[in-house]
Amino acid sequence: MTTVRAGTRYDELIEPERVHGSLYTDPGIFADELERIWYRSWVYVGHVSEIARPNDYVRKSIGPQDVIMTRDSDGRVHLLMNRCAHRGNLVCEDQRGNSSSFRCPYHGWTYRNTGELLGYPFNRGYGGSGKLDLGLAPVPRVGTHQGFVFASLAPEGPSLAEHLGAAADEIDRLVRLSPEGEVEVTAGWLKHRTRANWKLLAENETDGYHPQFVHGSIFSVADSGIGALYSDKSAAVTRAFGGGHSENDLRPEFRRLGQPMGWFGTSESKVPDYVSRMREVYGERAEEILVEGSPHVMIFPNLFIAEVSIFVLQPLAVDETVQHVTAVQLRGAPDINRRMLQQSVGSVGPAGLLLADDTEMYERNQRGLAQGRPEWLDLRRGVHREGVDERGFAVGTATDETAMRGFWSHYRNVMEGAA
Ligand code: FES
Ligand SMILES: [Fe+2]
Repeated sequence: MTTVRAGTRYDELIEPERVHGSLYTDPGIFADELERIWYRSWVYVGHVSEIARPNDYVRKSIGPQDVIMTRDSDGRVHLLMNRCAHRGNLVCEDQRGNSSSFRCPYHGWTYRNTGELLGYPFNRGYGGSGKLDLGLAPVPRVGTHQGFVFASLAPEGPSLAEHLGAAADEIDRLVRLSPEGEVEVTAGWLKHRTRANWKLLAENETDGYHPQFVHGSIFSVADSGIGALYSDKSAAVTRAFGGGHSENDLRPEFRRLGQPMGWFGTSESKVPDYVSRMREVYGERAEEILVEGSPHVMIFPNLFIAEVSIFVLQPLAVDETVQHVTAVQLRGAPDINRRMLQQSVGSVGPAGLLLADDTEMYERNQRGLAQGRPEWLDLRRGVHREGVDERGFAVGTATDETAMRGFWSHYRNVMEGAA
């Protein structure tokens, strides 16, 4: 039996249909997760459009660790640990900016935006000639898919394509909503601090069981059809892609509706420029794209694409997580982008109704788990009616816990060192 840390047997805490409550509350398990998941497997970091121009930079994170994503003067993207090679100070304090170099505020060491050490004051203190063989530490592996930048702190392991598997198709499905085939992450980020374990958030993103209850008030006030997508009558499905990734596939409902832009809660007459541009670019395929809309996919462990919003989960402690949220923006589609921003702000902004409701549940969930009894969380919903689709992925109905079972099966593999 492989165990990560003396005393923790993950096979005893994770069963196919139930998981132990200590997984959300034990600081030792959180420390294991940092080593096994956040500092080893692929983690979503940022998007190339956030550093569009040469010498742009933006501060990002890998779990609790601070990294700088830069574009050098030749246009290449770098991910550097935000830690001075002298005595470890934070090198970059600004959230974003444009500069070809960084100067550490402590003793003035300077680095090129590639990480290379450029110089340091009073260099006779180091013998005067040559240059010290030091620099900002690069993140060992960086990979991109459709402009989405992922990183791994492990020098070796599965490739990004292997990690993403079929979840990559969902990112492709998002970018094809742009007439130029590109998403821009330029709407700015909001950060919501939550007193809850990161896994409660990750699991909830594709939990189709809760919306009717947690979001009932907003659905009724807004006269929204979203609630009906997550009911026993819905044709939508929940799918586990393997690798811990999952989705609520709402396309069966949108196809039934058969209305271009119906997925967006509107009709084509409200966004005529966008729709005509899409038809111009995609020809016959445009109808399918405009009817099927945007994905609702959770990419393990921290990227959630929720139709019009992007969430990035950042764990800080066993009971503390930051949700970074922004609106999806489609390149070449100004009229829909304005509406996307409004919809996103309305659901995940400072007074956003969806995120506020979910966050209240996360925090109550964390407080409930502190009771310690009963010890287990039940994940049985839909086991008896789960199927396998033509690609071999587990599929449940809209309200089943298929996605959570997929999450935990991957999590257990990773924590036992098998993935
Ligand atoms: S710690 Fe950065 S220059 Fe000394
Ligand atoms: Fe929710």
